[in-house]
Amino acid sequence: MAIEKIVVVDDELMIRKALETQLRNKRYSVASTGNLKGARKILARDSFDLVFLDLRLPDGEGTDLLEEIMAKADGPMVVMMTGYGSVESAVSCMQMGAFDYVVKPFSFDQIEVVVDKVASFDKMRRVTKYYVEESDSRSSDIVGESNPVKALKTLVDKVAKTEATVLISGENGTGKELVARELYRNSLLAKQPYIRVNCAAISETLMESEFFGHEKGSFTGATERREGRFELADGGTILLDEISEISPALQAKLLRVLQEKEFERVGGNKTIQVKVRVLATTNRNLLEEVKAGKFREDLYYRLNVFPISVPPLRDRDEDILLLAKTFLVRHKTRHGIEKISFSPSCEKAIIAHEWPGNVRELENAVERAVILADAGKPLHGELLGLGHLSNIKPAEEVTPSLASEVESIEEIEKMHITKILQKCDGNKTHAAKKLGLNVRTLRNKIKQYEIEN
Ligand SMILES: Nc1ncnc2c1ncn2[C@@H]1O[C@H](COP(=O)(O)OP(=O)(O)OP(=O)(O)O)[C@@H](O)[C@H]1O
Ligand SMILES: [Mg+2]
Repeated sequence: MAIEKIVVVDDELMIRKALETQLRNKRYSVASTGNLKGARKILARDSFDLVFLDLRLPDGEGTDLLEEIMAKADGPMVVMMTGYGSVESAVSCMQMGAFDYVVKPFSFDQIEVVVDKVASFDKMRRVTKYYVEESDSRSSDIVGESNPVKALKTLVDKVAKTEATVLISGENGTGKELVARELYRNSLLAKQPYIRVNCAAISETLMESEFFGHEKGSFTGATERREGRFELADGGTILLDEISEISPALQAKLLRVLQEKEFERVGGNKTIQVKVRVLATTNRNLLEEVKAGKFREDLYYRLNVFPISVPPLRDRDEDILLLAKTFLVRHKTRHGIEKISFSPSCEKAIIAHEWPGNVRELENAVERAVILADAGKPLHGELLGLGHLSNIKPAEEVTPSLASEVESIEEIEKMHITKILQKCDGNKTHAAKKLGLNVRTLRNKIKQYEIEN
C-alpha cells in the first residue's frame, strides 16, 4: 500500500474530524489542522503521501500551500476540498498540480475512491520512473541460432510462465540481464512492475535502504521516507543483479524476504508484506562462494530454484556473426548512420577473434566501429579493434583519411573515449557504462592516454 500518511487541512471542525476519523478507521495515519500555519508545521515534521486541502482557510488561501507543496520534487499529492460555489477555482488548482478535488459535502465513499486513485497513480509514477531509468531502448530479443542458444530460448519460454525464482549465471557480458528481461516479458506478470537492483553498484551501507526503503530520519541523509525496491516491485518482478556481491548481513535479510515475504524499512518497525517474483544473476559460481563461506547456503538454495546458465560466446561461434550484424543494424539506427556494412575480411576477423568480454564486448566493438566509420565505406577490422589480425585484412581496406590521422588502435580508443566522455559531459560513470568498461578501467585509460577531463 503506497498511501500511508495523510494530512487533513480544513477549518470546519465537523468536516475535519469526520474525515480524520474515517481515514483512521481505514488504518491511515492522519494528522489534521485548521489553518495553513499548522499545515506547514505538520508537513515540515514528517513526510506525507496525501494532503486533503481546503481552498479557503482563516490565514490564507489553500492555493498558497498547494504552490509550496508542488515546488518540492517529492512532495505529497494534494486533493482540494471545495464548496459548490468555487468548483472553478478547484479546477484551476488541478492546473497548478493538485491531483483531484472533492466537492463538499462529500460522502466517505467518494473519499475512498479518491484515495484509491491517488494510490494507484502514485505507484505507477514511481514504478515508471524506475522502469525508464532501468530499461533502455534496445530490443531485448535473444539473438542466436546455435544449439546452446536454442536450448536457452526454449528454457526461458518454459520457465517464464512458472513464477519460480530463477538464478541466471554466466560470464561477464554473456546476456544475463537480457535473459532476465525475457523471463519477465514472457511471464504472466509482464504488465506488472519490473524492478532491477544492481547489487554490485550500490555501497553496502545504502544497500539495505535500497532493498527495503527507509523512514524519514533513520540515518543521516534520510530526509524523506522512501520505499525500497521490494515495495516498488510488489505484485511484479524484481531482478537482483550480481547477487553474489551482497553482504552477509543483507543475505540474512534477503533470506527472510524470500521465505516469509516480509521485511521492515530501515528505521521502521512496521512489517511490510510483498508478493514479488525474484530473478537473480551472478557471474561468480555461487556454489563455490557457498563452499568458501562467502554466501549463505540456505539463501543459495532459495535462489537456485531454477538455474539457467548463459553460455559464453566461445561456445557458440555460429552466433558471432549474427550478433555482430544485429548490433550493426542497432547502432546504425541509433547513430543515424546509413549504408555501412562489414567488409568480408572484417567478418572473418570478427569470427576469428576471441571475445573474452563476450556479447557485450562484441557489441561495444561494433558500436565503436559504427561511430568511427566513414560513410559509404565498408567497416574494416581495425575499426573494431581487431587490427592486430592484420594478416586477415588487405591493406587497401584501411580508409586513407583515417590511416593518416590515427596511428594505432590506442589512438582510436583514445578518440573514442574522449568522444564518449564529451557526450556524457565528463560523467565517468555514464561514460563507463556506454563504453562497457568499469569505472576503474576507464579512469586508468584516461590517465594512460592523458585525456583531459
Ligand atoms: N543473445 C543476445 N542477443 C542479442 N543481444 C545480446 C545477447 N546477449 C547479450 N546481448 C547484448 O549484450 C549486452 C550485454 O548483455 P547483458 O547486459 O545482458 O549481459 P550480462 O551478462 O548481464 O553482463 P554483465 O555480466 O557485464 O552484467 C546487452 O546490450 C545485450 O542486449
Ligand atoms: Mg549484467
